[in-house]
Amino acid sequence: MASLWLNPIPFRALLIFSLLHLSCLFNNVAAKHGSSTHHHHHSRTSNRRLQQAFIALQAWKRVIFSDPRNSTSNWVGPDVCKYTGLYCTAALDDPKIRVVAGIDLNHADIAGFLPDELGLLTDLALIHLNSNRFCGIIPQTISNLSLLYELDLSNNRFVGPFPSAVLSLPKLTYLDLRYNEFEGPLPPQLFQKKLDAIFVNNNRFTNVIPAFLNGSTATVVVIANNNFGGCLPPSISNFAESLEELLLINTNLTGCLPPEIGYLYKLRVLDVSHNKIVGPIPYSLAGLAHLELLNIAHNMMSGLVPDGVCVLPSLSNFTFSYNFFCEEEGICMNLTSRGVAFDDRRNCLPEKPLQRSKEVCNPVLEHPVDCHEQRCAVGGGGGRFFGAAAPFGPAIVPAATPMFAPSIAPSST
Ligand SMILES: *[C@@H]1O[C@H](CO)[C@@H](O)[C@H](O)[C@H]1NC(C)=O
Ligand SMILES: *[C@@H]1O[C@H](CO)[C@@H](O)[C@H](O)[C@H]1NC(C)=O
Ligand SMILES: *[C@@H]1O[C@H](CO)[C@@H](O)[C@H](O)[C@H]1NC(C)=O
Ligand SMILES: *[C@@H]1O[C@H](CO)[C@@H](O)[C@H](O)[C@H]1NC(C)=O
Ligand SMILES: *[C@@H]1O[C@H](CO)[C@@H](O)[C@H](O)[C@H]1NC(C)=O
Ligand SMILES: *[C@@H]1O[C@H](CO)[C@@H](O)[C@H](O)[C@H]1NC(C)=O
Repeated sequence: MASLWLNPIPFRALLIFSLLHLSCLFNNVAAKHGSSTHHHHHSRTSNRRLQQAFIALQAWKRVIFSDPRNSTSNWVGPDVCKYTGLYCTAALDDPKIRVVAGIDLNHADIAGFLPDELGLLTDLALIHLNSNRFCGIIPQTISNLSLLYELDLSNNRFVGPFPSAVLSLPKLTYLDLRYNEFEGPLPPQLFQKKLDAIFVNNNRFTNVIPAFLNGSTATVVVIANNNFGGCLPPSISNFAESLEELLLINTNLTGCLPPEIGYLYKLRVLDVSHNKIVGPIPYSLAGLAHLELLNIAHNMMSGLVPDGVCVLPSLSNFTFSYNFFCEEEGICMNLTSRGVAFDDRRNCLPEKPLQRSKEVCNPVLEHPVDCHEQRCAVGGGGGRFFGAAAPFGPAIVPAATPMFAPSIAPSST
């Protein structure tokens, strides 16, 4: 039941696995490309590509300003394959020569920049830089790394707009940008890449979620703790064939939940808590046969808690506190009898303890939200609303608090 995001161990294991099996990965790709028949007589420790790598790594070392664990202190001399954090293996197109295929400096606490010369490391399949103090922007030249498969830049101090250069990387499968200071909108192309996981939480991304979420293959999408605003577009249904975990916590989402969420038939975790979502729980959620965790707490939702959701066969935790629900249907009244963990506090449920007062409930319940009027726009490049604004202000949602400590950022070693 563990969410990949809340408990990033499965993802971490995957990263370690692929590092250990880098040469397998490499050889697989090589097989697809067909190996070169040329025979080069390069020495083991020096060939043109390792020389290029040497230039790149020396340039990088010059813009490292703090390295408290001395991770790069042996980055001297031409034998780059001996440098800490570097992994060499046979080149894809020429098994006779060695090339730099991976960099793993996770948890090195290094402060510095990424230099443009990074683009010379064209044989890289993996870059793992999580939990350092790298800052500045991601150089455009990263688009030169046409074999790059995993890019983990999480828990650093990168800034600037979404690094669009990564969108041109044809092999990229794992992209982890969480816990940085990227800002501005997410490009719609991010959701069209063949990525397995999209982690962009805990940045400063703003703007609406792209209205066209088509072509995605991601099983996990974590956008939490950014400031989007706008609504969840109906095109979320385009994730149906892959999406298992959708976390949109504290992203300043407004509007109603689109009924199209019900098409995400593989969904196991849905967490849209700490937003400004209004309106009812869509009945279509009753179609989510694999749903284990549903968290809609701390929104402004109202109406009925539908039996169809409460009877979902896999449901083990249903958290809907801090909303304005005023009625529970069927088994929803006694989730304990189903063994489902729940939190129904601070709603307007007449029969239940720890509810909001009539004074707070009545003004809201007198103005039911019409979700047809609040449909999320599908034109104009973003999830904005047609129709009226929510009838009450954002004061109910507390100011963004750091709900999750950076320690949950992934750690690959
Ligand atoms: C790193 O190197 C410096 C200078 O050689 C030394 O004083 C320091 O103790 C080293 N730090 C670690 C963590 O090894
Ligand atoms: C891109 O890689 C090629 C080698 O494959 C190299 O010659 C070129 O300088 C690199 N470009 C950049 C911008 O680093
Ligand atoms: C996604 O939708 C946009 C806009 O409708 C379209 O231009 C693009 O070709 C679509 N991409 C895929 C992969 O379906
Ligand atoms: C939330 O998004 C709305 C746009 O929907 C924006 O006007 C508002 O400033 C955002 N709230 C915060 C706290 O930034
Ligand atoms: C249920 O989920 C909520 C929100 O994700 C969490 O805070 C709570 O601890 C969970 N309860 C149980 C019993 O797992
Ligand atoms: C909920 O159901 C259990 C048995 O399934 C029962 O013992 C309990 O009294 C019920 N609680 C309420 C509040 O009806």
